[in-house]
Amino acid sequence: MTRKFGAGIALGIIGTLLVAVAIWLTIAYTGAYNVAASDQHADAVRWTLDTTMHRSVERRSGDVELPETFADEVVAEGASHYAESCVYCHGAPGQEPTEWSRGMRPEPPHLTEAAAEWSAEEIYWIVENGIKMSGMPAFGAHHGPEGITALTAFVSQLPGLSPDDYRALTGGDPAANAGGAPAAAASPPEETTDGATAEPAAAAD
Ligand code: HEC
Repeated sequence: MTRKFGAGIALGIIGTLLVAVAIWLTIAYTGAYNVAASDQHADAVRWTLDTTMHRSVERRSGDVELPETFADEVVAEGASHYAESCVYCHGAPGQEPTEWSRGMRPEPPHLTEAAAEWSAEEIYWIVENGIKMSGMPAFGAHHGPEGITALTAFVSQLPGLSPDDYRALTGGDPAANAGGAPAAAASPPEETTDGATAEPAAAAD
């Protein structure tokens, strides 16, 4: 009797696994899931990606070691890297992200608000390693530990910065402040077709 019961459970588990594999392969092969970035993720998919991302970053950023405070020069260096590499996806105080970045799924968050959610160690980890399946690039290979530390120093202070603070940190030069525009024009090839309309609005600030 108990043996029969055990065999029944084993069969049930195998059957469930086979159905799960069948659903997985059906979704992958039939093209049932809409990958269009013009379409929002289903709530369940969005929740899964968000939760996986947050837990994964929390778990892996424990090994990051950073100084307690950052020197002003380090923050300023981070600000200039930010104006070159990040602003067109994430915006800055007084500066909107480029229009094309609003077409990404997930949409890159405005870091002036979103950075407050993360510890400096988590920011370091995210910038160094990037985030799979999201379009957030890994900058570790290009910027090295010092560059990533500088970016972290700047991004952790971003939520408290005013547009004037940001302008002062990036040299007070409107052209430098509009760092998003030249960087954006140089990056994705599609930019050449509508680059003229993709200039950040705040370039005029
Ligand atoms: C091509 C666009 C793009 C560029 C350039 C980019 N990011 Fe991101 N970034 C993203 C996207 C998309 C996400 C959202 C990931 C998610 O929600 O899963 C993200 C997420 C983040 C996050 C986590 C914030 C949150 O709440 O999700 C941080 C921190 C971050 N980026 C920092 C940076 C920094 C610093 C740079 C420049 C060195 C940078 N990013 C450049 C697209 C970009």
